[in-house]
Amino acid sequence: MTSDIQIETERLILRLPRREDFDGYAELFGDEEAARFVGGAMVRAAAWRKFLQQPGAWLVQGFGMFSVTDKQTGEWYGQLGPWLPEGWPGNEVGWAFRRAAWGKGYATEAAAPAIDWAFANLGWNNIIHCIDPANTASLALARRVGSTNQGPGKLPPPLDEHPIEIWGQSREQWFARQRGVQAR
Ligand SMILES: CC(C)(COP(=O)(O)OP(=O)(O)OC[C@H]1O[C@@H](n2cnc3c(N)ncnc32)[C@H](O)[C@@H]1OP(=O)(O)O)[C@@H](O)C(=O)NCCC(=O)NCCS
Repeated sequence: MTSDIQIETERLILRLPRREDFDGYAELFGDEEAARFVGGAMVRAAAWRKFLQQPGAWLVQGFGMFSVTDKQTGEWYGQLGPWLPEGWPGNEVGWAFRRAAWGKGYATEAAAPAIDWAFANLGWNNIIHCIDPANTASLALARRVGSTNQGPGKLPPPLDEHPIEIWGQSREQWFARQRGVQAR
């Protein structure tokens, strides 16, 4: 069953979102700096409505971003994984972490198995990341997972006002890199 999906890494567990993740989520989306490139900061009640997007995506589409949690303590660090709403410019693997979880390599550690999972389960031939050119931390993460800049893109309205670059890579490039060889 979808809700049983659980991926373990050295320090993390990736699993579907749960009610108990909301305090961390509300903290992330209440933080001006952390929420700047993911729709802007919002009050807790608005964050709850946004929080329901990922469980909704899992239920309706069969995939969504994983909750990324600490393997030892269960602390919710952020969310990362496949995201493909109506009108999106491609098969995104997206990410957003609480500020307290930045700078520790958690997003990089979670990205590899989440990308593996997306390629193994969704029939995708490529992935993208939609990134504001000013979001240096996200650009660095895209580079760390081996994605490259594919040029400017557009999100669907009402998000089309924001400038984004599409970063990404093909399935072939991803698996070649995992095997340690350079894809053509
Ligand atoms: C984008 C985002 C997830 C990147 O987080 P991050 O903490 O920079 O990325 P990682 O978790 O992979 O950590 C990498 C950093 O940890 C450091 N690090 C420490 N221990 C590490 C380890 N064991 N392994 C790898 N890196 C480690 C790295 O040196 C790097 O720091 P640096 O950038 O100063 O060199 C984060 O900035 C975020 O959530 N931003 C707000 C939401 C957002 O904008 N999302 C993207 C929308 S497109």
